[in-house]
Amino acid sequence: MTGPESEGSQVRRAVCPGSFDPITNGHLDIIARASRLYDEVYVAVMINQSKKGLFTIEERIDLIRQATAEYGNVRVESFHGLLVDFCKQRDIPAIVKGLRAVSDFDYELQMAQMNNGLSGVETLFIPTNPTYSFLSSSLVKEVATWGGDVSHLVPRMVLEALSERLRQD
Ligand code: PNS
Repeated sequence: MTGPESEGSQVRRAVCPGSFDPITNGHLDIIARASRLYDEVYVAVMINQSKKGLFTIEERIDLIRQATAEYGNVRVESFHGLLVDFCKQRDIPAIVKGLRAVSDFDYELQMAQMNNGLSGVETLFIPTNPTYSFLSSSLVKEVATWGGDVSHLVPRMVLEALSERLRQD
């Protein structure tokens, strides 16, 4: 088959990459929106060995899997290496990222241009829901460490995992 019908039959894939230490409602909002735009969405937990996280990679994956269980087209994997190689290996032509504020833009633009130059992969930015425009995993960890309420900022299972982990520390 040729023409638009054959093109239309191709599976449209995208990746939402990040550290996800841990996943927040801001991440979840972007993943949910990407899952409505694409047939298959990969959530890639990128491994950065120089950064020691609060949660292990396996714990992050487990929390993301639970938080995204209701979306039938979301897969969660970890990757050690370049994001463009993750994309190449899975035939993913698009990276989807949330943009919280103009301050995110400089670095995100650099990464988008670098990734495009390396392999032709495109980056699409989704404006973050304003409810979460101040939200980051680092702030959630800091506030939770000092006993602040983050229950409206993270999925239920993350809240439980945070209180468990911070109780141990
Ligand atoms: O959640 P984060 O830490 O802001 O996510 C940053 C991340 C993991 C998406 C970015 O650092 C990344 O893509 N790392 C993978 C290694 C890579 O491809 N580096 C070149 C980026 S141009």
